[in-house]
Amino acid sequence: MKHTKEELDRYIELGVKAAKEAGEYSLKYFGKPKKVTKKGEVDLVTEVDIECERIITEIIKSSFPNHFFFGEETSKKPSSSEAHLWVIDPIDGTTNFAHGYPKYSVSIGLRIDGQTVAAVVYEPLTKNLYTAHSLSPSRKNGEIIEVSNTNELIDSLVITGFYYDAKEEGGVDNIEQFSKALKNTRAIRRDGSAVMNLCYIAEGCAEAFWEHSLQAWDVCAGALIVEKAGGIVSTPKGQPYDIFSRGWVVASNKNINDKIRTLLF
Ligand code: IPD
Ligand code: CA
Repeated sequence: MKHTKEELDRYIELGVKAAKEAGEYSLKYFGKPKKVTKKGEVDLVTEVDIECERIITEIIKSSFPNHFFFGEETSKKPSSSEAHLWVIDPIDGTTNFAHGYPKYSVSIGLRIDGQTVAAVVYEPLTKNLYTAHSLSPSRKNGEIIEVSNTNELIDSLVITGFYYDAKEEGGVDNIEQFSKALKNTRAIRRDGSAVMNLCYIAEGCAEAFWEHSLQAWDVCAGALIVEKAGGIVSTPKGQPYDIFSRGWVVASNKNINDKIRTLLF
C-alpha cells in the first residue's frame, strides 16, 4: 500500500498530540505514581501507565476508529491481518518513573501492513520530541538528526538493558555481552528506557545499543527513528529485526555495525 507524505504527516501530528497529552498527564505522578502493581517479580505497572495508554488510544481512535492498537498495558497480541496497527508504550521506563529516576518516555509507532511507517517518542521531563516517518528523515524537536560517524568501538559510547526475565531460570542475562563491551568500548550506559536509548543512537550521542527479549512496543518507534537517521537495527547476524521476535536487537551507526555484532555475539 502506498502512503502519501501528507497522510504520514497527519499520522505524526496525531501521534504527537497523543504523546504530549499522555506525557503531560504522567508528569503529575512522576516519582509518586498512584497504585503500583507487580506484573512479575520486578516488572511494575502503575495506574499512570494504564491511564496514559487510554489517553493515547482515545485520541487516535477519535480520528481513526477502525485502526488497531497493541499497547503495553491493555491490548492483545495482534493478528497479521490488522492493516493499521498503533504500537504503544505509554511509559517506557516504568521502573524509573515509579522510583523518580529521571528517564522515561512515551512511545508510539504506526505499522501499516506489517511495516513501521511513523514514529513518535516524547520525553515529558525534557519535552524532547523525536519523530520520523517513512518519507521523512528523523527529527528531534523539528531539527533533522543523524547517527554519529564514529568508526571504532574503543571510541564508542554504547548502551544496553537487562530485560525483566534476566533474573529467571533460562532467561538471557546479558552478562557475557556486557563484559565484552566493557573491555572493548569507551563506556557503557544502562538507564532504563530502551526507546530513549534508540533515540540516542539516532541523534549520534551514542553509537550502539543492544538488548534481549524486548517487547514490540519497546522497539517499534525507536527502530524507525534510528533507521531514518541513517542507522541500522538488526539481529546479531545482521538480518532485519522483527519487533515481535523477542530475540537480540542490535542498533548502531553504520560504521560500527559489523564490529559491535562481531564483538558481542
Ligand atoms: C523497559 C525499559 C528498559 C528495558 C526493559 C523494558 P518498561 O520498558 O525499556 O530500558 O531494559 O527491557 O522492558 O517496562 O519500562 O516499559
Ligand atoms: Ca517499555
